[in-house]
Amino acid sequence: MNVPVIDPFHAISISALAHRLASEGRSIIHMEFGQPSTGAPKHAIERAQHVLETDPMGYWESQPLKARIARHYRESYGVPVTPEQIILSNGASPAFVLALTTLFNPGDRIALARPGYVAYRNALKALHMVPVEIPCGIEERFQLTADAIAALDPVPEGLIIASPANPTGTILSDPELRAIADLCQARGIRIISDEIYHGLSYTEPAHSVLEYDREALVVNSFSKYFSMAPWRLGWLVVPPDKIAAARARMGNLFLTPAALSQHAGLVAFDCAEELNGHVETYRRNRDLLLTALPEFGLTRIAPPDGAFYIYADIGHLTDDSLTFCERLLRDTGVATAPGIDFDPVDGHRFMRFSFAVSTDRVEEAIRHLRPWFARQG
Ligand SMILES: Cc1ncc(COP(=O)(O)O)c(C=O)c1O
Repeated sequence: MNVPVIDPFHAISISALAHRLASEGRSIIHMEFGQPSTGAPKHAIERAQHVLETDPMGYWESQPLKARIARHYRESYGVPVTPEQIILSNGASPAFVLALTTLFNPGDRIALARPGYVAYRNALKALHMVPVEIPCGIEERFQLTADAIAALDPVPEGLIIASPANPTGTILSDPELRAIADLCQARGIRIISDEIYHGLSYTEPAHSVLEYDREALVVNSFSKYFSMAPWRLGWLVVPPDKIAAARARMGNLFLTPAALSQHAGLVAFDCAEELNGHVETYRRNRDLLLTALPEFGLTRIAPPDGAFYIYADIGHLTDDSLTFCERLLRDTGVATAPGIDFDPVDGHRFMRFSFAVSTDRVEEAIRHLRPWFARQG
């Protein structure tokens, strides 16, 4: 078996250029990564400071945190989940590796939407699994449909869903999510649902796949709603018959998440007021961009229901989104992500704006972008 070739994350090269320009004295607005600029909630930081001063810490798996996450599933989705079904991990990224290796074998075919989060495709390849990308256009609001999955021949072993999704922020409607779950159960397709953007919704709250499929594996994290990406804390929900297999993989591949982060994460669950304030900031940012982008001629967009992204068709301006984003950054100081990160086929004519920054920064970005786009085309 050959060692698989894994694509780089091109937004990292945009970010490196942005930091180089900043070191030369340029003012840069970072809209290239999906990373809240707000920092961890205040009370979570206070808790971490107290723990640092009083507890030497060690390898640790927080039972109170597992119980708190299980309670979240009962309260938010009406789904009974036990603390034992929660596998704590160092973010959604390792949780995703745990999920894939718990369910699938090398050679298994796993369906997913294109465009989609860059790591899905590359993690599958790294694990010698076969990504089966389903093209999802603006007509489907870049989301999977049960019909598109039903049309796959041969039937894949697995399916990855993400709602709200990266790079588009679109949510699977409740009936469509249910139809997908029903179809997969009928055909023996195992679902991994990436629910990392739950809590960040501007239209309706996203439903968990667990409401319709108790056999699905759910990936989640403290990186987005909880604004704790650098704390590297996340979790995986597994059905009871997969607990032993998933725990064995976690213990051998990653051991435990950072003890300090687990202490802080537990407190973060009680910081709704501060965290919901961030959601209101993102809502304002979203509204500003949804007004501005069409004025710039970027009319082919699907308004995001959640997350903090807008995926825009720039096909009338370029067929090379990486060069386009680099030029945009050099000319305006606004860093964005090229579509090729999310879609190797059509992504050369798309770009992604992340609006997980302050509203002031979004307003400033719009001021820089308006004359620049007016000069294009
Ligand atoms: C859809 C999606 N899943 C997973 C991740 C990885 O998250 P984490 O920081 O928890 O590893 C990201 C990060 O941007 C993401 O957008």
